[in-house]
Amino acid sequence: MIYQALLSLVSSAIILGSAPAQALDNGLALTPQRGWNTWNKYGCNINASIILANGKALIDEGLHKAGYEYVVVDDCWQGPRDPSTGRITVDSTKFPHGLKNLTDEIHAMGLKAGIYSSAGSMTCGRHVGSLDHEEIDAQTFADWGFDYLKYDNCFNEGRSGTPKISYDRYNAMTMALNKTGRPILFSLCQWGEDSSYLWAPTIANSWRISGDIYDNFDRADARCPCDDMTTQTCYLQGFHCSVKKIVNFAKSLGQKAFPSAWLDLDMLEVGNGGMSTTEYVTHFSMWAMMRSAMILGNELFSMDNATRAIVKNTHVLDLISGDANGSPAYPVWEETTSTNGTEMQLWFSSLVNGTYAAALVNWGSQDASGQSIDLSTFFVDDAPARKASWDVYDLWAGVDFKQGTVPAKLSKLSGSPFTGSIGNLDVPSHGIKLLRLVPAGTDGKGMSEQEHKRRALQEAEHVQLERAMQWQEDRVNARRMASRGL
Ligand code: GAL
Repeated sequence: MIYQALLSLVSSAIILGSAPAQALDNGLALTPQRGWNTWNKYGCNINASIILANGKALIDEGLHKAGYEYVVVDDCWQGPRDPSTGRITVDSTKFPHGLKNLTDEIHAMGLKAGIYSSAGSMTCGRHVGSLDHEEIDAQTFADWGFDYLKYDNCFNEGRSGTPKISYDRYNAMTMALNKTGRPILFSLCQWGEDSSYLWAPTIANSWRISGDIYDNFDRADARCPCDDMTTQTCYLQGFHCSVKKIVNFAKSLGQKAFPSAWLDLDMLEVGNGGMSTTEYVTHFSMWAMMRSAMILGNELFSMDNATRAIVKNTHVLDLISGDANGSPAYPVWEETTSTNGTEMQLWFSSLVNGTYAAALVNWGSQDASGQSIDLSTFFVDDAPARKASWDVYDLWAGVDFKQGTVPAKLSKLSGSPFTGSIGNLDVPSHGIKLLRLVPAGTDGKGMSEQEHKRRALQEAEHVQLERAMQWQEDRVNARRMASRGL
């Protein structure tokens, strides 16, 4: 609660325009960044035309209007380091006009440009890395006009093993980026090694929490061997981590994120073909619930309608991912596989104006029908909210996956307002019910901060009055007993 109060102070500061202290003091990523990255779809098979074609599709699809603004070049753009200047060169077959030309083209589209390097002697694709060349590389990226750096962890020359060693290695790049004077979003990609949740939020705008995602919902894979990123026992973060595994890693880490220092659950796989539409909806919704960086990883110029409907759901993007409170979700209860094949979790997240998001996820193999959310378990830390009445909105209602359309306005769930519980919820296998709870009678807007405080005070007074009445009643009873000599 204290953390949430702090977060709302931070967000009020943002709203009032005073400058809150940010991770990097670069003023970037006040809400989780959105964009597109080459890696999930193309791996090392990149070149300038593919990147520009995706940038153009981002505009043509109207994704920029939904806040996707960064076009990020991942690994495999590099040539060797030039021995005379000490600068990294560019693979001239893939980028015949160089990277300054590429960022000019991206900027001309009204977008921002991102680049990738590693805090190691080589990148994961075995190209030249930036370790011990931080200043010259940061300056090169700034000179080329980049606005974003994803900074990886391969070939780190054994310079890891304690949080301090890793912190120093990454902080060298934070300082180098700051020194360029160009606002460059710093996307730290250290896979959660050396408890990066302890130090990464102080030096980066977002920080990867685990090994690499792959386009699968829940398959266990030995190449992603860790179970919990908060223990000190996992030394191999790996890759081929499923959506289920990554969400599981993120469960307790949201408390270490805040505006300008977001979790990064890795780039999205929506549209890459390995999951069903239902699974992609859960994947996208949970990334938003965790306030993860929202970086698309599919081919934007060949999107199908189902993909369009998911990545353009502005309700999920604006009301949850972009919520000014910046409070990542956490599960309030979970039930492991039951006899009927369901495996449910209920996630909680507080939003601005006394509104909330609830996500009921069914990780199991069977559909779950007629589920209900008990508000006393949902509002585990908030007594007044437990008793209140709520208008409820389903953030995926009316989304047409066949036509690729999202309704402009959401309508209330029938049965609203709900008191005590929200019932009759059907959650298909691998699906999600993503709900927004708004105080009843506020026309979907929620309460102003002032009204919120007034109600809390009213509730506190009511509690005091109840206590006083009980005290008086106890005294009368005690006197009665005493007068009877009991
Ligand atoms: C991995 C990183 C991936 C991708 C890849 C490039 O370490 O987690 O997201 O950037 O390197 O080689």
